[in-house]
Amino acid sequence: MLSRKLFLKGSLVASASIGSMAHAAQLQRVSTLSAGEVASDEAFWQSIRAQYITGKLINLNNGGVNPQPQPVRDAYMHNYLLCNDTPSYSMWRELDKQREPLRKRLAELLGVSELELAFNRNTTEGLNSIIFGLDLKAGDEVVLSNFDYPNIENAWKQRAKRDGIKLNYVDLQMPATDDDAVVQQYADAITPRTKLVHITHMMNWTGHVMPVRRIADIAHAKGCEVMVDGSHSFAHLIYTIPQLGADYYATSCHKWLGAPFGTGLMYIRQDKIQKVWALLSAPIPDADNIGKFECLGTRSFAAEMTISTALDYYDTLGAERKLARLRYLKNYWVEKLQAKPGFKLYSSLQPQHGAAIATFGIEGLEAYEIESKLAQANIHTSIVKHGNVNGVRISPNLYTSLAELDSLVKVVGEMEK
Ligand SMILES: Cc1ncc(COP(=O)(O)O)c(C=O)c1O
Repeated sequence: MLSRKLFLKGSLVASASIGSMAHAAQLQRVSTLSAGEVASDEAFWQSIRAQYITGKLINLNNGGVNPQPQPVRDAYMHNYLLCNDTPSYSMWRELDKQREPLRKRLAELLGVSELELAFNRNTTEGLNSIIFGLDLKAGDEVVLSNFDYPNIENAWKQRAKRDGIKLNYVDLQMPATDDDAVVQQYADAITPRTKLVHITHMMNWTGHVMPVRRIADIAHAKGCEVMVDGSHSFAHLIYTIPQLGADYYATSCHKWLGAPFGTGLMYIRQDKIQKVWALLSAPIPDADNIGKFECLGTRSFAAEMTISTALDYYDTLGAERKLARLRYLKNYWVEKLQAKPGFKLYSSLQPQHGAAIATFGIEGLEAYEIESKLAQANIHTSIVKHGNVNGVRISPNLYTSLAELDSLVKVVGEMEK
């Protein structure tokens, strides 16, 4: 009985990556419009909003982790139930058949070979695999910045403490919009002992997009490898890994792709796979096969394999439409608040420097005071007190309505010291 129900549900899921009929009609209606035109078509975005669970709070902290739209939730539940009927068979023999086709699809999206892409649980796991897997020795140097993600910085700090590698920090100020100056800072931080340059593509603190390729080119010219943290940029910005010039890259599918929680990807350039030790040991430690990074023990194949439905959803929506809407939402609230006395923006409105995320402060107010006034109005945001930034990060998503952003604008507009 359960199997029949699952089968029926499964075919429903397979044919319904779009979700509701109403949304299908909206997709059809906007099919001849440009991404820029669709960005402000509220009827279309309402049909997207209807696919998300909303209502508890005004969630403007999508940068933390994304919720999943209905087709992804349905597919996940389907896969989860499937796995509970004879798990060792359903997970490892049935559902796992989808792994290689999915890897191929993801590799195509990221412009790399499927032989270079490993599944894991998140960016933290991917970047830790690389950081602890590289044969660095005392005196070797790594370049990173004061605006990289703390948990990843901690991995480097642990290596510094344990193995005596040296960390050279680039000191950034947000918004770091002078790309020439930023690139020069990285170039200056590289010494003859530098082995690797760590770059965050899109900074979590402010949504700032770094000139990754320019930095990578200089790093390579000076004989260094390049590791890119793509946690926030994947399925948010439009790019391939080769365009970034990364030798190593990791991302989380539960961020902007909207895949189930605890799903991630790691890329290692083919010719570098052999020399990287797997964080969790594999049968042949020095194999040149990316599979050595997938000896992760029992984990949720239901979550992993549902990445494919998130990809369907992303493809159907269209990367350009998604990016245009996210930028539209950011500009919408920022432009309404920009003239407010004391309003300080730590992010850039230039497209090459950001998309959905922006962080602001109010002169005379601490970040936690702004956050708590917003929380009193049921608006969920994230405090950023880091480097020169003292403010609150606003990260809307596809389901964010203009009415919700109007509420944000109203509350911030009334804020006084
Ligand atoms: C820039 C950056 N890197 C890495 C991570 C870690 O992501 P995860 O918790 O999915 O491993 C985050 C999380 O917010 C992040 O913003």
